[in-house]
Amino acid sequence: LDPGPIGIRVHYSSVNYKDALAATGTGKILRRPEVIGGLDLSGEVIVSEDPDFPCGSQVVAVGGGLGESRDGGFSEYARLPADLLVRLDPGFGTRAAMQIGTAGFTALLAIRRLQALGIRPEDGPLVVSGATGGVGSFAINLLDGMGYAVSALTHKSGCEAYLQAIGAQAILGLEDWSPTGPPLLSARWTGGIDNVGGAELSWMIRSTRRGGAIASVGMAASPELRVTVFPFILRGVSLIGINSTEV
Ligand SMILES: NC(=O)c1ccc[n+]([C@@H]2O[C@H](COP(=O)([O-])OP(=O)(O)OC[C@H]3O[C@@H](n4cnc5c(N)ncnc54)[C@H](OP(=O)(O)O)[C@@H]3O)[C@@H](O)[C@H]2O)c1
Repeated sequence: LDPGPIGIRVHYSSVNYKDALAATGTGKILRRPEVIGGLDLSGEVIVSEDPDFPCGSQVVAVGGGLGESRDGGFSEYARLPADLLVRLDPGFGTRAAMQIGTAGFTALLAIRRLQALGIRPEDGPLVVSGATGGVGSFAINLLDGMGYAVSALTHKSGCEAYLQAIGAQAILGLEDWSPTGPPLLSARWTGGIDNVGGAELSWMIRSTRRGGAIASVGMAASPELRVTVFPFILRGVSLIGINSTEV
């Protein structure tokens, strides 16, 4: 294990998109070939000289190079510095912490960034792409709980009941948007969260209202983005980047 002052018995780690890229070698995720995967973990402190993290305390860690440049959560034990750890409230539970995991943490980061730009529920609907995925599902559910009207953008058919159950008010499929079109489209969204990149992100930006904002989280379909400056200059649309590993 990579060295670290606090020893943890790992209880749970969630499986994220990047973990799959690392495991299959599809993406250059592991900075060293021998790094243990797992972008996050929760568990119990078993070795510590840090009074803030006494033995027996339950902790969670997300990002900070876990599963990329430092041994991650797919292991029985981990050794981490205190600045990567957050103590869990007694009763919350290490299982619940990883059910939320990187996906839920990232969705909330994106929502907070949109809120910081003044995107409020009364301003109009939001759109979330990659809707059936981890980040997309948490984003829809959290936004719905906060009073936002959310449209779910998905590639899948047959998932309407699921998306409605987690809070989507409208469901958009492949037939509802086009990868091509003019630099500005009819303005529909006050904001959005994109997990897919490429043509979908471009469409979301081009159909965002004056003063709206889109949070770019993922690139499940493509890292490329083809868009003119028109949405940004003529409509004052903001594009914000989210990185959960460096919070
Ligand atoms: N920036 C950050 O800090 C951060 C943190 C976590 C994750 N991410 C990134 O965000 C993206 C989503 O993560 P996730 O955990 O939600 O992943 P996930 O659970 O695997 O979901 C990905 C979703 O993207 C959609 N999708 C569209 N085109 C796709 C394609 N060509 N291949 C695969 N999926 C496609 C699918 O939803 P539909 O069928 O409903 O369209 C799929 O369910 C990934 O790119 C991930 O690396 C970034």
